[in-house]
This record gives sequence, C-alpha cells and structure tokens, in this order.
Amino acid sequence: MLTGSETQSQAAPAAAHAAELSVIIPCYNERGNVGPMVAQLAAALGGIAWEAIFVDDDSPDGTSDVARAIAVTDPRVRCIRRIGRRGLSSAVIEGILSSSAKYFAVIDGDRQHDETRLPEMLRMLREDGADVVVASRFADGGDAAGLSSAWRYRLSTVGISLVHKLLPVKLTDPMSGFFAGRRDLFEQTAPSLTGQGFKILLDYLLSTKTPPVVREIGATFRPRVEGESKLSILVIVQFGALLLDKLFHGMVPLRFMSFAGVGFVGLIIHYLVLMLSLSSGITFGLAQTGATLVAMLTNFQLNNAITYRDMKLKGSRLWRGLVEFMLVCGIGAAANIGIARMLYYQNDGVIWPGLLGAAIGLVWNYAVSSTLVWRARRR
Ligand code: GDD
Ligand code: MN
Repeated sequence: MLTGSETQSQAAPAAAHAAELSVIIPCYNERGNVGPMVAQLAAALGGIAWEAIFVDDDSPDGTSDVARAIAVTDPRVRCIRRIGRRGLSSAVIEGILSSSAKYFAVIDGDRQHDETRLPEMLRMLREDGADVVVASRFADGGDAAGLSSAWRYRLSTVGISLVHKLLPVKLTDPMSGFFAGRRDLFEQTAPSLTGQGFKILLDYLLSTKTPPVVREIGATFRPRVEGESKLSILVIVQFGALLLDKLFHGMVPLRFMSFAGVGFVGLIIHYLVLMLSLSSGITFGLAQTGATLVAMLTNFQLNNAITYRDMKLKGSRLWRGLVEFMLVCGIGAAANIGIARMLYYQNDGVIWPGLLGAAIGLVWNYAVSSTLVWRARRR
C-alpha cells in the first residue's frame, strides 16, 4: 500500500505521457516493417494518446534493435525482447499485460492490417459499449485480398466453420489477428488463456468467464510487401490443439496431448523398424535395440520441434537434451515393463497390465521431460 506522502512524492511529472490506447505489435523477423509501421500508426492515430509495444522473439534479423532505436527518440514506442520463446499468441499476451492503458489493440507487425481502422475501433470501445472490436476481412467493408493463395483462403474458411461450432458469439472472422478491447477484461481472463499458436482472439473469446460484447468492423487485409509469413504446418497443428484444449475445458494439458501423440507415432516407427530389420535377417535382440534407438531419436526430434517448440533446444543443449531424454525414457521403459509384469503375474489378463504399464511409462516420461529436459530458460 502506498501512503499519502508516498503517492505524492511519486506523482508523475506533468510531461509524462499516459496512453489511452496501447497498440500491441507481435513481430518476428520484421526488421524492414518496424519503421514504416510506427509512421503509419502516427499518421492514423492523430489526436489519440497512443503507445506502440513491439513484442519480438529475439528475431535473428535484429527487429528489436530497430524498434529500440526508434524508442530512443519516440517515447510512444517500446520494445519487449523475449529470449528462448516463440509464439504469436503468447507474445500478444505479454504485450497487453505489460501495458496500463485503458484500451489495447493487437495488430500484425507486417502492415497487412489496415491501421486506419483503429480510431473507429477505439470509438466503438469508448462509446458503443463494446468489450471487443474485431476487424473482419469478411464483414461489410472488409477484404481478404492479402490471403496469398487459394489454399490460404480455403484454410481460413474451413477454420472459421470449425470454430463456429465452439464459439458462443457468431463472428464473420473469428480468426482475425486484428482486434481491440478493454484491458481490464483481458487482465481478468489472462490466467485462463492457452497462449498457444497464432489465434489469440479465438483463445480470448473462448476463455472469458461471461460472453463479452463483441462488435465487428470491416477491414482490408493487405498483401505483404516486406518479409515473409510465419504460418507453417506447425501453426495449423497448434490451431487444432487450441480447439481441443477448449473443447476439454483445459483439463488435459496441450503439451501432454502432444507428448502422447508423439509417443504413439514412436510406437508405429518402432514397429516398422523392427519388422523391416527382422525381414532382412537381423537377430531379434539387435532389431529390437535398433528399433528402440530410432524411435527414441525421432521422438526426441518431434517433441523438440512440436511439443516443446516454444523452448526448442539448439546446439550443444540439443545433444545434452538428447542424452537426458534417452535416460528418462530408459527409466520410463523399465518402470513400464516392471509394473506390467507384476500385474500380469497377479492376474490373468494381458491387456490391462500392458496398458497400465504403458500409461505409467508415458506419465513418467512426460513429467520428467518437462521438468528436466525442456526446462524453461535453461542455459
Ligand atoms: N513475437 C512473435 N513471435 N511474433 C510473431 C511470431 C512469433 O512466434 N510469429 C509470427 N509473428 C508476427 C509476425 O511477425 C507478424 O507481424 C504477425 O505476427 C503475423 O504473422 P504472419 O506470419 O504475417 O501471419 P499471416 O499473415 O500468415 O497471418 C495473419 O493472418 C491471420 C488471418 O488469417 C495473422 O494476422 C494472424 O494473426 C491472422 O489471424
Ligand atoms: Mn502477415
């Protein structure tokens, strides 16, 4: 608690700038877009007290250096540089939580979104009682011109129809990455967010305690002029995972589902390698050893690329992680076999001891991998 005199002595200087609107800009390898983005925002937001917060995941192209260089002379601009982390949604969450303005807006850092819509979006929050305003490519006045190909367009429409099965409010563009809202409501909802993947708006709308008042506004999605899209097959997988997580009300951790899925793929690989080696005349012992090693290696790579994508191990840490992962899985396998054998000799069945052994091995592998092999911010 601050005492009266403390508040007084800490009173802000008269020139301090308090923003009403925080514009959150997730960016990764957008070096060439940062400067023009600030200029475009400044042109669009005349008469509004705004600030821009770039959230960069330590882009190799030095995006945050450019943002910081602008921030040195422009107090409306800030930059958060996250190290060892990746993800559009989680970047947006951190950006919003770092702000204290009454309203926030989220906009891509590649200038594909039409920033001239921002004043109207802010007005709808201020005056129309909206909790969230979504800039839609498919509402009146909107345009999806920037979707680079027919398959991107198709992907978008398939995604939207899937989402409509879950979403409490009907929106023409629930997959939009351009929206604005009240920070207090976001703050309340933040602990329930999944923070996975690209679709922070969807995550948000599926996580609020009571359905928010959502309004739409048409906006053009422009083609990209500078840099490259970061949409990949992984992002699409993460989108599926987000929907699953919300379907199960967050009861099963996404990481666990991914880890189990990878484990299942590992089983298939193990079986294939085993069969292939046996058919080429290798002894069973050798074939089984080879299959185990191949399955462990692919599982490690898949988990590193998908399950723990946001804390991917690289360089020497990758090798250390691999050795640790193999040790962990070795112990997991021993526990699996031990428990299954014990149950098998106590009862007659085969299926239950087998499944229980595998389940315990899986939980062990997951728990220890998550705390030992892929620790956050490990050096
Ligand atoms: N910090 C951070 N970390 N930023 C990221 C990351 C990341 O891992 N991945 C992407 N970004 C930034 C990009 O630099 C860009 O400014 C913005 O997020 C959008 O990424 P793009 O790679 O340009 O996405 P897109 O054009 O394919 O997809 C857009 O369209 C979707 C609608 O179909 C995005 O706006 C989505 O948010 C939107 O939903
Ligand atoms: Mn883009």
